[in-house]
Amino acid sequence: MKRVQAKPLGTLSRRTNRATDEKVESRPQEQKTSEEAVFDVQDLSVFYGDFRAVRNVTLAVSQRNITALIGPSGCGKTTVLRCFNRMNDLVDTARIEGNILYHGVDLYESRVDPVEVRRRVGMVFQKPNPFPKSIYDNVSFGPKIAGFKGSMDDLVEEALTKAALWDEVKSRLKESGMSLSGGQQQRLCIARAIAVQPDVILMDEPCSALDPIATGHIEDLMQDLKNDYTIIIVTHNMQQAARVSDMTAFFTAEVNEKQDRRTGVLVEFDHTERMFTNPSDERTENYVTGRFG
Ligand SMILES: Nc1ncnc2c1ncn2[C@@H]1O[C@H](COP(=O)(O)OP(=O)(O)O)[C@@H](O)[C@H]1O
Ligand SMILES: [Mg+2]
Repeated sequence: MKRVQAKPLGTLSRRTNRATDEKVESRPQEQKTSEEAVFDVQDLSVFYGDFRAVRNVTLAVSQRNITALIGPSGCGKTTVLRCFNRMNDLVDTARIEGNILYHGVDLYESRVDPVEVRRRVGMVFQKPNPFPKSIYDNVSFGPKIAGFKGSMDDLVEEALTKAALWDEVKSRLKESGMSLSGGQQQRLCIARAIAVQPDVILMDEPCSALDPIATGHIEDLMQDLKNDYTIIIVTHNMQQAARVSDMTAFFTAEVNEKQDRRTGVLVEFDHTERMFTNPSDERTENYVTGRFG
């Protein structure tokens, strides 16, 4: 399959962007870490109006790895996830402090085009949300908008194959995406994300609306996908994080400085195996052993 013709790297490239260049050069240490990381999150806080929903998050997301964000409800997992493709820009009151570098480029730098960011950093939501269109059109929609010029049939087949859905739908491509089962719909949404040749796929509790068998399919699929993509998954299911992820970030919520609401904090970020067997923070241990949550 031909790759979707991405727009020139212009807006996201450090080399063609003097403002970003200067910024990065003045921080040689960050530049070093960012060369290895897809995302380098540095002291990130996210606010909704005056309310600081999550504070002081520092972590790095490695390429072709699965990174899980776990923690109790309200600790800011979705909020952090939505920063990675600037989805929070769509919330009027949201703003960030700190930095997120994407391949070494400041993701929130003014010249970065959020639409291009969202093409490179796709998202799969909790509730499968296919468009009310045919299976084929669900997958072809993004590439068409991006100006894809190659064989759309080939592209649709490859995206559906990668999403482990092709065999189940190849004889009914003209049927509505809504006619599929929940698990199939979620794989269709993954195919739709893949079709625009992203670099990263964000998944916000992608299995929470699915039965255990459909969940197993998605988890297996994630293992295949990580050969080609970097994946960040939010899950409230600790066993799922333990099964699928390479790295885990555990968040909790603490009463904030104003003592009125709870603010999310990153407690610990480490290799998943270590997080579940030998965490260094007692709060992580209490959570993963089920004593808190
Ligand atoms: N659009 C929003 N406007 C205001 N507050 C929000 C918004 N989205 C989330 N929050 C608040 O931010 C905090 C973190 O929410 P969220 O990121 O959804 O947590 P989680 O995904 O871990 O359950 C919560 O206190 C929530 O009420
Ligand atoms: Mg959430």
